[in-house]
Amino acid sequence: MTAAPAAGATLVTGIGELVTCVAEPRDRDLGIVRDAALVVEDGRVAWLGPAADAPAADRRLDLEGRAVLPGFVDSHSHLVFDGDRAAEFAARMTGERYDGGGIGVSVAATRAADDDRLRELVRRRVAEMRAQGTTTVEIKGGYGLTVADEARSLRIARELTPETTFLGAHVVPPEARGERAAYVELVTGPMLDACAPHARWADVFCEPNSPHAFTEEESRAVLVAARDAGLGLRVHGNQLGPGPGVQLAVELGAASVDHCTFLDDADVDALVDAAGTTVATLLPGVEFSTRSPYPDARRLLDAGVSVALATDCNPGTCYSSSMPFVIALAVREMGMTPGEAVWAATRGSAASLRRDDVGRIAVGGPADLAVLDAPSHLHLAYRAGVPIARTLVTTPSAAE
Ligand code: NIG
Ligand code: FE
Repeated sequence: MTAAPAAGATLVTGIGELVTCVAEPRDRDLGIVRDAALVVEDGRVAWLGPAADAPAADRRLDLEGRAVLPGFVDSHSHLVFDGDRAAEFAARMTGERYDGGGIGVSVAATRAADDDRLRELVRRRVAEMRAQGTTTVEIKGGYGLTVADEARSLRIARELTPETTFLGAHVVPPEARGERAAYVELVTGPMLDACAPHARWADVFCEPNSPHAFTEEESRAVLVAARDAGLGLRVHGNQLGPGPGVQLAVELGAASVDHCTFLDDADVDALVDAAGTTVATLLPGVEFSTRSPYPDARRLLDAGVSVALATDCNPGTCYSSSMPFVIALAVREMGMTPGEAVWAATRGSAASLRRDDVGRIAVGGPADLAVLDAPSHLHLAYRAGVPIARTLVTTPSAAE
């Protein structure tokens, strides 16, 4: 998901608020430049600063006072699936609990889809994200759960992003129930071998509170094998109740532990010690869609934990691809300031992917930009539900 290369330079003027996010991570300072301009050339930022100092360029694009931010970095999504689970969502709204059992429904539908259909579904979901200002996306497999279906899911995801994640340990699939050990051997052996060439990361649903997910020991086996195969690590941890996921992620130096809904003091201490290595990625769209309590973001931020925000876009726990929606939830429900939420959705989530090039706007970096039909980033939460964010396209040939 990178901007199309520009032929010649474009001077973008009329930027009411330019949010650069270039400060040191511990400061979480948005680095705002008001009445700004920037020059984009060959898909990169060639210059930025006060509009009064702007150089000449081949073309001009006047944003008439709109805010420009780093494109959102959605560091956790499960876009490779077929099938519909809207009825499961509706049942939850009237009191059903989520335990991961519905994943099997998506697995059956995904296995039945041919390559062209699956590719088109993923492509459309990525386009939906991009239309809302997301310029970097991580995509997990996890709805194939056979060697061939996981490899195919990652091959398709790789066509759209370099941030692909092997999630053979999403749940124990129906045909392997009662043979958990054999399934973990499949995941750590032939499935990992077939998937590693198409993946940058590996992830595991470490959740003793679900009969479908993986225990601490099973999760450790999967993560160690993946690390030995050269993959970076991510963990679904502490989503449905207290558990070992956070501490396991920190122990193994994972780049991110995601959900972090149920944390005790030792979990928070571990995340504080691991700040700069393991990011706590919060996914409040999941709490919205499962009626769980929201994670305590204020506690994590005040303690000094590295925090990111992402959608977790998936057919079960959050079928929303909207980073602005996530930012609004983080502000309204998790005690984050609008600035902290924007940081977590850009620079913070870039850190969870160990990326220093995206999630910020700097000279020499990619022109992965979001623009708001609003004068400041405050409007992302203030105008919740209104589609004010989009990816900024600066090339005339790719006119929106
Ligand atoms: O991140 N928790 C595990 N995986 C997904 C949900 C997958 C599904 O229900 O389809 C999550 O919440
Ligand atoms: Fe997830």
